[in-house]
Amino acid sequence: MSDSSPRADFLQHLRSALADGSFVRLVLGKPRAGQLLVKITAERVVTARGARLQLHFRERQRDLTKPADAAAIVDAFELRVGDALGSAHLYTTTTLWQFEINKKGADRLTRGRLSAPPAAPAPHDRPKHREIAPADAPWLRTLGLAGADGRILADATDKFRQINRYVELLLPLCEQAGLTARESVRVFDMGSGKGYLTFAAWHALTRSLGRRAEVSGIEARPELVELCNAAALAANCDGLTFTSGRIVDAVVPAADVLIALHACDTATDEALFRGIRAGAALIVAAPCCHKEIRPQLRAPAELAALARHGIFAARLADMVTDSLRALLLEAHGYQVKVFEFIDASHTPKNTMLAAVRRARPDEAAAGRARAEFAALKARFGIERQHLETLLGAPVAPSA
Ligand SMILES: C[S@@+](CC[C@H](N)C(=O)[O-])C[C@H]1O[C@@H](n2cnc3c(N)ncnc32)[C@H](O)[C@@H]1O
Repeated sequence: MSDSSPRADFLQHLRSALADGSFVRLVLGKPRAGQLLVKITAERVVTARGARLQLHFRERQRDLTKPADAAAIVDAFELRVGDALGSAHLYTTTTLWQFEINKKGADRLTRGRLSAPPAAPAPHDRPKHREIAPADAPWLRTLGLAGADGRILADATDKFRQINRYVELLLPLCEQAGLTARESVRVFDMGSGKGYLTFAAWHALTRSLGRRAEVSGIEARPELVELCNAAALAANCDGLTFTSGRIVDAVVPAADVLIALHACDTATDEALFRGIRAGAALIVAAPCCHKEIRPQLRAPAELAALARHGIFAARLADMVTDSLRALLLEAHGYQVKVFEFIDASHTPKNTMLAAVRRARPDEAAAGRARAEFAALKARFGIERQHLETLLGAPVAPSA
């Protein structure tokens, strides 16, 4: 006997659409009286790195966006529609299914008419998805990126775009590193500068993922530390603090995430070293100027043309430096991805290394990385690489 009811049928359409790829959007609404939750939207978003599913929870006081999978979307319907919300609209590439529960608790399912093509638009004509809603981020005001009315200032739009891009990158990395399942997450941001991206990381963890987070910015310039601490206090960013000091001296007793964005030259190596030694589940670095390898680099004869022109030699040195860093991370139990962080028009230093610690050691992969590291160094005549030196040195005592 078939178990058919409007609810079961709707669920069946939802599961099928998610399984066969025709799912476009699910909107759960009609909040019951007294509910904090107003609406849930699940959709397939298209980013520069491909399509992914996400859930957006709108509550009376705040918005929360999370990466999702099919099971989480089905759960959202099963758990929230009934007690908290009274309607569900499923948009597929061909059909709109409308599920409603009336005041007496009776439910019904109707097939609606799609008034507009529902398919997810291509990345270039899709309205830009913003992880950070300025209204939900008072720190944008205290950092001077938004005005008193909460609107992003005209001269801060590029920075705001960069912050959002960063959050878009960070969220799936946190998920891959298993951090979305944790109650609280401890983050160190080395060379935090004016703090924009440190605040953004705090926002991603606490607001987008709903975790408790202790986020520490480490910065050599005390005046920036003072400014950032004042801004965090003014915006009530609980758990976000900044400390003055050098990365090499930073005490990192335990860290889930280690971030180093545009930390100068070998400061990136010092930050990576801290992350590896702390056993961080996720290490994210966007290297800045690369001065250590360039004077050592001797291109092998058959590749001499690659290093003949100064600009190419500098780029080659950058690539060799970051490849060596990626290999050292792999040799220490991480899976590494390298990609473009922000548009090259903002800064040519836009490479990001994202390292997620393997759940289980993979000795073969680590051994391969060690061999490739040694071969690359030898091939380009490199004698010293700062991260290798640090990793070879005794571990600094930590508190
Ligand atoms: C280019 S800024 C980047 C700031 C921020 N991470 C970002 O990407 O927007 C680099 C910052 O790192 C700091 N810095 C550089 N070397 C450092 C070190 N060894 N220890 C601590 N801070 C350092 C600098 O003072 C500067 O504020």
